[in-house]
Amino acid sequence: MSNAPHHDIDIASFTADPYPDLTAIREGLGAAFVPQLRATLFCRRDTIHREEKRVDLFSSRQPQGLMVRLMGENMLRKDGDDHAADRKATFPSYSPRTVRDHWSERFRARTAEALDDLAPQGGCDLVRDYAMRVSGEALRDVTGLYDLSWQEIDQTSQAMIDGVANYHGDPRLEEGALAAVARINAAVDKQMDDLPEYSLLKVQLASGMSRDAAAANIRLAISGGQNEPRDAIAGTVWALLTHPAQLALIREGKASWKDAFEEFNRWQSPVGMVPREVTRDEEVEGIAVQAGDRVFFMYSAANRDPRVFDSPDDFDITRNTAPSLAFGAGPHFCAGAAVSRELVAEVALPMLFERFPDLRLDGDVRFHGWAFRGPVSVRVRW
Ligand code: HEM
Repeated sequence: MSNAPHHDIDIASFTADPYPDLTAIREGLGAAFVPQLRATLFCRRDTIHREEKRVDLFSSRQPQGLMVRLMGENMLRKDGDDHAADRKATFPSYSPRTVRDHWSERFRARTAEALDDLAPQGGCDLVRDYAMRVSGEALRDVTGLYDLSWQEIDQTSQAMIDGVANYHGDPRLEEGALAAVARINAAVDKQMDDLPEYSLLKVQLASGMSRDAAAANIRLAISGGQNEPRDAIAGTVWALLTHPAQLALIREGKASWKDAFEEFNRWQSPVGMVPREVTRDEEVEGIAVQAGDRVFFMYSAANRDPRVFDSPDDFDITRNTAPSLAFGAGPHFCAGAAVSRELVAEVALPMLFERFPDLRLDGDVRFHGWAFRGPVSVRVRW
């Protein structure tokens, strides 16, 4: 076990708001062993940015880890050549060019339909009624699994995420994740005779990958590609409506929707951490880690590191977000980054504010989660 100082957390308050604990760890020695998570948490931005690239020391391979046990071995849990081969096979679906030439138009059409349906209602819960649908519809296109409704995409995504973040061992969460995996596999089987153009299913099979390996990466796309854009869409809207001067900057053309999206991702880190397994005994900035240790690189803490960001707890869309680690820092840098930038910053946010120029909040908003974090519900009116 690492010799990092111990830092005890209360899981309920850490889930409600991890930032006080993360600040204490980051401003202490920068890393601490948290007994409740059985992991050493690294919390400083530059340390994570450097160490995450040392895959020979901090491995993504975790055959006994929760993700592999519940969801199968996907690219996020591979290293080196195995990982590179999966990245290459999926790239034709995720590439910026495919996003521009193929997905963008679809995202716009489906988002317009969602807005048409919502318009007469005069108000909604943005998480459930807009962001969830826009993200789920996009994933139906990108994965090619049209047998799943957007509601099922969201439900299976959440169940897998809850299972993978189930570090405290709740058996109901494990069952839910396994049921989600079975549902997605059934949808893959149903689509095998009709492979949609550019879909993850089609491009991976075309590369010679087995059905099972392709399905594992599709499950990863659903678990990683639904909640994060969903939470980023609803969360960025909330952030802009609670910071009207910043929304005004966008409306005056002095800042962009992308600035708001990137700053929200820094400020609230929809993916708060990534886990790694230590391969050998070594010392990192005075902290001794041992082979077999579980390490969490805490992007959420890194993205509020005052050594890198001025007034890091403030939402400020004019800041330079380039050092943000919201999409990762190493070889596993988000494969869906181009998809999510287009979906959220070029489609979901501008189309919503254009359609409902008088959009306003209708009640308080509570955030939830530390490994994955987002608003529980965002009630709005127009
Ligand atoms: C706001 C939106 C999103 C955020 C903040 C986000 C963030 C991340 C992060 C932090 C990682 C892990 C990086 C690492 O371990 O170093 C990741 C990986 C990944 N993401 Fe995203 N993501 C988003 C949207 C998406 C979407 C829409 C998709 C798919 C359509 C997607 C697919 C993936 C995949 C496949 C990986 C694994 C990459 C690999 O192992 O090489 N993500 N994402």
